[in-house]
Amino acid sequence: MSRQLFVTTALPYANGPFHVGHVMEYIQADTWVRFQRMRGAEVNFVCADDAHGAPIMIAAEKAGLTPQQFVANIAAGRKPYLDGFHIAFDNWSSTDAPENHELAREIYRALRKNELIDVREVEQFFDPEKGMFLPDRFIKGTCPNCGTPDQYGDNCESCGAVYAPTELKNPYSALSGATPVLKTSEHFFFRLSDPRCVEFLESWTQDGRLQPEVANKVKEWFKRDDTGKAGLGDWDISREAPYFGIEIPDAPGKYFYVWLDAPVGYLASLKNLFSKTGADFDAYLARPDLEQVHFIGKDIVTFHTLFWPAMLHFSGKHQADGTYVPRKTPDKVFVHGFLTVNNGEKMSKSRGTGISPLKYLELGLNAEWLRYYLAAKLSSRVEDIDFNPDDFTARVNSDLVGKYINIASRAAGFLAKRFANQLSGDLGVEGRVLLDGLRAHADAIAELYEEREFAKALREVMALADRVNGYVDQNKPWELAKQAGMDAALHDVCSVCIEAFRLLTLYLKPVLPALAVQVEAFLQIEPLQWADSARALGHHRIAPYTHLMQRVDPKLLDALFEPPPEPVIELPPPGGEAIAPPISADEFFKVDLRIALIVKAEAVEGSTKLLRLTLDVGEGKPRNVFSGIAANYKPEQLTGKLTVMVANLAPRKMKFGLSEGMVLAASDADEQASTGVYVLEPFPGAVPGMRVR
Ligand code: 2FM
Ligand code: ZN
Repeated sequence: MSRQLFVTTALPYANGPFHVGHVMEYIQADTWVRFQRMRGAEVNFVCADDAHGAPIMIAAEKAGLTPQQFVANIAAGRKPYLDGFHIAFDNWSSTDAPENHELAREIYRALRKNELIDVREVEQFFDPEKGMFLPDRFIKGTCPNCGTPDQYGDNCESCGAVYAPTELKNPYSALSGATPVLKTSEHFFFRLSDPRCVEFLESWTQDGRLQPEVANKVKEWFKRDDTGKAGLGDWDISREAPYFGIEIPDAPGKYFYVWLDAPVGYLASLKNLFSKTGADFDAYLARPDLEQVHFIGKDIVTFHTLFWPAMLHFSGKHQADGTYVPRKTPDKVFVHGFLTVNNGEKMSKSRGTGISPLKYLELGLNAEWLRYYLAAKLSSRVEDIDFNPDDFTARVNSDLVGKYINIASRAAGFLAKRFANQLSGDLGVEGRVLLDGLRAHADAIAELYEEREFAKALREVMALADRVNGYVDQNKPWELAKQAGMDAALHDVCSVCIEAFRLLTLYLKPVLPALAVQVEAFLQIEPLQWADSARALGHHRIAPYTHLMQRVDPKLLDALFEPPPEPVIELPPPGGEAIAPPISADEFFKVDLRIALIVKAEAVEGSTKLLRLTLDVGEGKPRNVFSGIAANYKPEQLTGKLTVMVANLAPRKMKFGLSEGMVLAASDADEQASTGVYVLEPFPGAVPGMRVR
C-alpha cells in the first residue's frame, strides 16, 4: 500500500499578489511533495485563497468592487507565480467556496453540540459614520505610553507598547476619521479554556508531532497561574455585520472570524478537488493510514497547534452506540522561519531590498536557481533564512552549474563524436565502484528529504558530484581522446559520467523538477523515481546533448534589487485649482486694475460676510464696494491701506446697496478653507489711481 499524504501550505490572504515569503513556503512544500511522489506516495497537495475578513472587505470597497470580485481578481493573478516556480498544487480553491461555507458551519454546529460555544457581551469601538465595529487595525490614535500620534489600535510603532484600542488617546476611525464610540454586542466564543480542550491539547502538542522547539514554545501557553487556572483563554470567533465571511448558523448578522474558517479551507479545498476527481472525501479522511501535513510560517503557530486541532477534535460525531468519533487532526505541522534579505535586513520594496517573485521571472532569472538556493538553506528547524545575492550567484554557478551540470557537458561531446551517443555497458572497475558509492547514498539522502533537511541533502549530493569530478580529473577523458587505442577507456569514463549524472539528477529532482524533465529527455529515460537509483542505464543510447543550464549573470541580480522607480507623486493643483486656459494680452488689458486707497471700512448690518469699503481711485469722488472679507479682516485692519481693485467692473446692485468694483484678494480654491483670504497690497510708492498691468 502506498503512503497516503494530504499536504497543505498556509492559505494566503486574497488581498494582494504573492511575495517571496509565500513562494519560499510553496517551494519547501512542493519539494517535499515531489520527493514523496518519487518514493511512491499518493499525495493530495492543496491550497486556496484566504478570502474573508475585514481588511479584504475594506480593500474591495476602496477598489469599488464587491469582495467576491476583488478576491476573484487576486486569484486570477496566481497562476504565473505557481507555474513559473514549478509549484504543482493539485487544487487551488477559496475559503469563500461553498464547500468551506458548509464545512465551517458543520464544524461550528458540532462544537456547539459539544457545549464548547459560549455567548458573551463584548464592548468594542464602533464607527458611527461607517456603521460598523472597527477591527484593531482600523482604529488609530495617540499612543497612551509615549504620546506618538496616529498609532494603530493594538500597538505603537514608535515605542512598541502593546495596548487595547480603548486605551488610545483621541481615538479615531482610520476608515472615516470619526471618533469611535464604545458599543456592546453579543460575541460567540470557542471555549478553549474548557478542561476537555486543555487536556486534549496538552497531550496533542507534546506527543512528537511538532518540531521540538515548537512544542516547547507551545508548552508555555499552558502555564497555570497561581490559582491553578490554565493559561488558555477562550477564543472570540464571531464578528458583526458588515463583514465578509461566513454567516454563523442561527445568528443572523453575525459572521465567523476569518481565522475560524481559514483552516477549514484546507479541508474544503480537498473536498473541492474530490468533487472533480470523484474521490470519497469522508472515506479518505477516515483512512487510518492518512497523514495530514500542514506547512506554515512561525507567525501562525497558535492557530495551527491550538485552535485548529481543538476545532477538529471536538467537532466529531456522537454515534448511536454512545461512542464519540473525533475528526482527524493534523499529523504534522511543519513550521518554517521567515526569509530575510542581505543579512536579516527586513524586506522593503521601496529600498529595493525586497525580491518581487514576478520581477524575478520577468527578468529571465531561472526559477530553479531560486528553488536550489532556497533548498540549499532550508532545514527542519524554525530558522529564518537569508537571501544574499553574492551567495546566490556563488551557489548556483559553482555548485549547480560548475559541479553538477558540467559532468554531463564534459562527457556528452565525446559520446556524440566518437560513440554515436551509445553508452558502454562495461564502465570499468573504478567506474563501477564510483557509481555504487553514489547509489549507496540513496537512502541517506532520502532520509534527509523526508526530514526536510534539504540543505544537508544538497550538501550530500554536491559531495557526490565532487567525487565524480575527481574521477573525471583523474581519468582525463580529453587526454584519452588524443591517445591511440584508448577508445574503450574513453567510452567507459564518459559513460560513467552519464550514469553518475543520472543519479545526481534523480537526487536533485525534488528541487529541480523542470531540469529533471530535460535530463530525462536527454538520457531517453522514463521519469525518474527514487527506486531508479538502484538501477543502471547499461548499454543504452542517449539523445544529443543540448545546453541544460546557464550560469547566473550578476547583472540580472542587480536588476532584481534595483529600487523601483520613484512613484510619480501627483501634486495637487496650485491653490487648489488648475490654472485657467490662456488668454491674449488684449483680453487681459480689458480688465482695468487700479491702485485704490481704502478710505473707510465698515461692517454691514445684516451680513456676517461683507464689509463696506469706501475706495479712492483718484477720480475725485469715492467708490462704494462690498467685499466678502468680513470673516478675515476687522474694518480697522483695512482703513488707510492701499489695495488693488477692478475699476471697470460693471456696477452690481446688491441687497445692501450698489457695488462699484471689486477688491483683489488671494485665496485657495475653497475660500472657506483655513488657509484664509488675503487682500492685495502694493509695494510702497504706488498711489491711488495708478493702473496695474
Ligand atoms: O497568515 C496568513 O496569511 C493567513 N491567511 C494564513 C491562513 S492559513 C490557514 F489557516 F488558512
Ligand atoms: Zn508609543
